[in-house]
Amino acid sequence: MKSGGAKFSLGEVTAELRKRGFHVSDNSSDLSGVLNWLRVAGVLKDYSVDEEKYSELAGASTKTIESLKGLTVPQNSFLRALAALGVKDWTPHNQVVEHAEMLYSGEVRYNWKELDRVILKPLEKEGFIEIQKRPKSTEGARGGKPAEIKPTEKFEKEVSLPILELICKAAGFSDVREIASISFADVVSGVQQKKDIDDRARALEILAVKICQLLGLDFMGIRATDEDVVAGGEVDAFMESARLVYSRWQIQCKASAQITYEAIAKEVGVAEVSLATVILIVSTGKITDGAATYRKKIISKSQLNIAIIDGESLEQIAKSPASIGSILNSQAREAMQIKPRPKAVFGLGGVSGGGAKAIPAKAGERVPDIVGADEPFKLTTPAYSTPMGDMFCGDAYDVLGYLVRKGIRVKLIVTSPPFALVRKKEYGNEDADKYVDWFMRFIPLFRSILQPEGSLVIDIGSTWIKGIPAKSTYHLKLLLQVCESGFYLAQEFYHYNPARLPTPAEWVTIRRLRVKDAVNNVWWLVQDPFADADNRRVLREYSDSMKALLRNGYKAKLRPSGHDISTKFQIDRGGSIPPNVLEFSNTESNSQYLRACKERGIKPHPARFPIYLPDFFIRFLTKPGELVLDPFAGSNVTGEAAERLGRKWIAVEIDEDYAKGSALRFEKPARPIERPPRRRVPRERVALRETELSLPFVQ
Ligand SMILES: C[S@@+](CC[C@H](N)C(=O)[O-])C[C@H]1O[C@@H](n2cnc3c(N)ncnc32)[C@H](O)[C@@H]1O
Repeated sequence: MKSGGAKFSLGEVTAELRKRGFHVSDNSSDLSGVLNWLRVAGVLKDYSVDEEKYSELAGASTKTIESLKGLTVPQNSFLRALAALGVKDWTPHNQVVEHAEMLYSGEVRYNWKELDRVILKPLEKEGFIEIQKRPKSTEGARGGKPAEIKPTEKFEKEVSLPILELICKAAGFSDVREIASISFADVVSGVQQKKDIDDRARALEILAVKICQLLGLDFMGIRATDEDVVAGGEVDAFMESARLVYSRWQIQCKASAQITYEAIAKEVGVAEVSLATVILIVSTGKITDGAATYRKKIISKSQLNIAIIDGESLEQIAKSPASIGSILNSQAREAMQIKPRPKAVFGLGGVSGGGAKAIPAKAGERVPDIVGADEPFKLTTPAYSTPMGDMFCGDAYDVLGYLVRKGIRVKLIVTSPPFALVRKKEYGNEDADKYVDWFMRFIPLFRSILQPEGSLVIDIGSTWIKGIPAKSTYHLKLLLQVCESGFYLAQEFYHYNPARLPTPAEWVTIRRLRVKDAVNNVWWLVQDPFADADNRRVLREYSDSMKALLRNGYKAKLRPSGHDISTKFQIDRGGSIPPNVLEFSNTESNSQYLRACKERGIKPHPARFPIYLPDFFIRFLTKPGELVLDPFAGSNVTGEAAERLGRKWIAVEIDEDYAKGSALRFEKPARPIERPPRRRVPRERVALRETELSLPFVQ
């Protein structure tokens, strides 16, 4: 196997694989299997090695593997630990050994009496380290004065830099040598001192790289966070390891005075999507009591482990990088105490009933359900209430957390979240790119607050990429992520608004490159595919021709489509089954809300949806008396629809003016919602609507 496109023979493959430290059988059919596998894995392209792919799969660069291949596993682990600690100068060798035992626990265990002979001397001979004897030397060094070691240039070049290079590459840094030259202490003081947003964000990213190096993890990538929101104050990095068992680490590096429970809750929410098994929060600040309690709660109730490196620990690690081992180990031991024993988990209380009682986990339990004494909630009182509902004015993230903790569960969430429109509306949109991340924060809360048989309905507009006649796919990305987080797409709906203006004018009316965009996507999502729904609750009035047919009868015959229209067809089933295209205009000009706004000089909400939209889904997916939630309620059309349909409702709106204005909807007693006007279809075009025709066959 040769790099650079040279051909190779089967015999050379054996030699090359052995050279790279693999055990290879001489059996030629085994070998051709290996070759095939390497091709499938992308390591072999034609007849040359793709070194990048090879490094990716082998977990270290070719250079490192080459260099370490003649060494024993404990020697190899020692050098990797030395690289992880970023040692540059004389260092007591026992610190490196301890770090290797921490990193490769279960894989290597050193015989401390033999360290000099079995580890240090051979590595010195190979030119990786220099040894400086201290009085009483290394034997039995756990108690006595340990010998000091120093990495050589060969070690830097062949082991340390290539390992760091892999991390840097994944983190998007090209200046490996520069990163290598920055000590952990420098990084920490950089994070503490940088005032400029970009500098601080970079310092936090370097901190993530250094933590990854220190823990010997494989860097997966950095999550783009919303700099506007966090002002360059945090970085989320993902790392993984396949040592003994697979683990995925979600590491948040944060420059802040406090580690609050909201910060942890957010990470717990992200872990739901990132599938992390470990959350590590690294911060210059101190953990609050509320956050510490919440951390324990999550550890005890989920598969997650959450570790914290606070400001004090960070300084300790800056002084002595190896101390990260003891800091994390003590928290791991604590987690072992916190996680319930199997007896408690499975309710195996025994005949004596001595075991702890099982607490059944609820779906989507990973939400903030503990508020520390230092973080009291202010969002407990509704801005206004009606006989059927409550409007809360606040951030839906906080209010929903509060409602979940109170044990509130809803049958339906129907909402129109703020859209990522190219031309920003007045109510503040997230940029399309950041939108998905922003929205996904709410998903664990939605899952927790929804009854298992409940539904989530999202009305979402699409948007154009700025400057070109092409559409953004952000809403599709969002749909995929929501579905990957545990929801099923029960059905997609389209809200067709025939009165929609022909925008963007540039592409539609001026250059005539595109047609009118007249639909909004409405996604109906469920956690249980058999969630409660009944289309008999949303039957449409029959068309005139169907009414005539029901009156006058129909002569049974086979239609050209092959449908056998039998006499059963003449049964009046109360209306036709609606399609998934919901047609109604969004031109509300005469509502009680608009009139009341005008009278009081209040500016109406600029992006209201037509009442027929929540009306349809509330009737379809809930029964009278059940509870409906709109977390981004705006002018609270959802609340009004629910009230008028005899359902209970909860609405949340962050903007005080919109929340106040929405109260005008409830000044007069609720009356039934009249059905949307039905468009007449010309007789000659369609004698009977398809949905009406299909009705008798859907039993
Ligand atoms: C598209 S509008 C909803 C309009 C609403 N369907 C109606 O018919 O009036 C989205 C609303 O979400 C609100 N909003 C944005 N972020 C929010 C948050 N984090 N919590 C609660 N409301 C939020 C905005 O102020 C805006 O009024």
